[in-house]
Amino acid sequence: MRALVVFYSRSGATETVADDIREGLLRFVHVDVEWIRIKRYEPFFIGSVRLILDCFSKSKFPLVGLTYDPTKYQYLVVGTPVWSGSCTPPIQSYLTEMVCPSNKVGLFTTQSGDPNEEVIEEMENMCNGETRCTMMLKRADIKAGNHHQEVDDFVGRLLGMK
Ligand SMILES: Cc1cc2nc3c(=O)[nH]c(=O)nc-3n(C[C@H](O)[C@H](O)[C@H](O)COP(=O)(O)O)c2cc1C
Repeated sequence: MRALVVFYSRSGATETVADDIREGLLRFVHVDVEWIRIKRYEPFFIGSVRLILDCFSKSKFPLVGLTYDPTKYQYLVVGTPVWSGSCTPPIQSYLTEMVCPSNKVGLFTTQSGDPNEEVIEEMENMCNGETRCTMMLKRADIKAGNHHQEVDDFVGRLLGMK
């Protein structure tokens, strides 16, 4: 059995959770990790302007340089920060273009404010796979290390153990 963890992270919170999910999954299955890197968002000032513009434009976001093919994995985890009440443009593209019907999918978000079910519902509607579990974590809880139980539950539900 193989799992792929795919995420975008600009300031580390989503990366922390993706890493914890990877560790949880590794106890049971082979795991690969795809960190989607977006160079146009990296220079701090101009990157921030670009990402805000991207959040408001509905144009398709090009995905380049992906390493792993999700059709080769039974389990697929996709994680994103919440930006302007939605998932990030690269993850929107990933969900619509890359997820396949045979993937058993786990979706998670990180955000500064209270968890927003609408973002997860939007993500579920974008992807073709069978959504097995979802998780919404606050940045402050991740930074305080208060998310480990939720990650364990998420991994258990993804693998059909809970
Ligand atoms: C452009 C932008 C928009 C954001 N919009 C929201 C939002 O609508 N709701 C929210 O709760 N947090 C929002 N945040 C906060 C991020 O979702 C939060 O800090 C997230 O954990 C960052 O993940 P990262 O560290 O993996 O990049 C926003 C952050 C940025 C940079």
